[in-house]
Amino acid sequence: MGRSTEHGLFQVIEDGRENRREAQKAQRQLNRERAKRRRERAREAKQDRFPEPEGRKVGPSGKYQLRGMHTLAPRAVRTTSHTASTAYPFVAGPGLGAQGLYIGRDMNGGGAFCFDPWSLYKSGVISGMSMMLFGQVGTGKSSLAKSLAVRQVLAGRKLSVASDKKGEWTRVVRGLGGTVIQVGPGLETRLNPLDPGTRPSTDVEGKPMTDHAWAMMVRTRRMSILVTLARILTDRDLTSPEHHVLAGALDSAVATAARESRVPVIPDVIAALQVQRDDEDKLIVEAASVMMMTLTRVSSGDLAGMFDGETTAVLDSSARATSIDTSALRGASPEAVRVVNACAGAWTEAMVTTRDGGQRLVIYEEGWDNISSEADLRRMVEQWKLARAYGIFNVLVLHKIADLEMAGDKDSRMAAMAKSLLSDADVKVIYRQDRSALKVTGSEMELSDRERALVRSLPKGTGLWRLGDSSFEVQNRLTKAELPLFDTDERMDKQQNEEVSA
Ligand SMILES: Nc1ncnc2c1ncn2[C@@H]1O[C@H](COP(=O)(O)OP(=O)(O)O)[C@@H](O)[C@H]1O
Ligand SMILES: [Mg+2]
Repeated sequence: MGRSTEHGLFQVIEDGRENRREAQKAQRQLNRERAKRRRERAREAKQDRFPEPEGRKVGPSGKYQLRGMHTLAPRAVRTTSHTASTAYPFVAGPGLGAQGLYIGRDMNGGGAFCFDPWSLYKSGVISGMSMMLFGQVGTGKSSLAKSLAVRQVLAGRKLSVASDKKGEWTRVVRGLGGTVIQVGPGLETRLNPLDPGTRPSTDVEGKPMTDHAWAMMVRTRRMSILVTLARILTDRDLTSPEHHVLAGALDSAVATAARESRVPVIPDVIAALQVQRDDEDKLIVEAASVMMMTLTRVSSGDLAGMFDGETTAVLDSSARATSIDTSALRGASPEAVRVVNACAGAWTEAMVTTRDGGQRLVIYEEGWDNISSEADLRRMVEQWKLARAYGIFNVLVLHKIADLEMAGDKDSRMAAMAKSLLSDADVKVIYRQDRSALKVTGSEMELSDRERALVRSLPKGTGLWRLGDSSFEVQNRLTKAELPLFDTDERMDKQQNEEVSA
């Protein structure tokens, strides 16, 4: 082995050492950089939590910087919720107390949220006996209305669902042992809009009901539903001659039916109008013809068989729970739907506006149909005003406040009536709403910024309750028995499955 080889070997060893030193140096540099980054991150995090004050720094440096020399140990303060609500508005309110039936959890107070409109009215917290419930589809509005209703019925109150478009209350009402009436084309059930309703023992003021007063009440009710039907079917207000011929036809229909000891039906009115067409006055003849043709639609076409005969199913005001299921009307003409709503509404109201009925919850589910015709809306406003006298609590379920504007042009009479419903409702519950719906809701209800942000992000089943001046964030708790009864998703799943397999 020559010297050159030896030299070569040393060179290799030397190169190896050099390489190792290089690698170690690079590693140390990397570690230094990593440590520096860690320190920077820690400093940033610390700055977020405890922003550095301007000017002179106080307190010892390091971990306890800015915290003073001593650890503070404030004593727990016990105070009344009344005082706390002044210091922390909205976060800590006095609550409603334990009066009433359990709804769920008060998300801010932490305790149970109980609600009973009748006792709140008695104690002066609310002055109007109606509630409006707003929220996007699937946020839990119907579930809240159902749990409120079921718990009230179990506590001895009564329930009427004015018009159930999806048929989702049928299970609930049957489950409570109540009566469900299903109306729709091709179904056996017939409702007679001219039914007198149940005769109450007293009038609104509590005086005994005389025969004369009762006869007047029935006549007004019948005339009002006839006019409503004619208005819906003609899509306009009636003229004076038309009013005149309808009133005349109603009287003779009532007389005819009385001779045969039965209640009058729409075909009796049509027959009486036919007679009026022989009148000498041209105006009367013309009006009678128009009204006859209009009402004939109730006994022919898409409405045939629903309202043109004597009532086949009886909605008894003594029943614990009743509902009118109009789900069979899916796909029917808008006029048909409105006629059914008008009849169902008039029917329900005839049944509930009696002082003998006891305390009752009346639900208008998906209620925008109820407020889209002026006649319906007017009847509703009047009935809501009388709610206190009759011991009724009304619940109107809508998607958004803007639905109320559907009731007519912005400044129209109808919009004003719809707004009066809103202002009369002393209980308003808002479930989750999107930004556009919230714009109107926020300004109409004077929601604070915090409440607006809250409403946008409410989870399913939780709502913002407004009772008079107080606000609550309430999570509606459903029991094991209620959950399957109220489930609307399940039915959708089933429907979708059926559609898929069809
Ligand atoms: N508080 C709740 N707890 C648990 N599930 C709920 C609650 N509220 C609603 N749900 C469920 O959400 C689904 C939709 O609720 P639903 O009340 O029909 O909504 P909306 O009437 O607002 O369209 C229902 O199937 C119901 O079971
Ligand atoms: Mg619903």
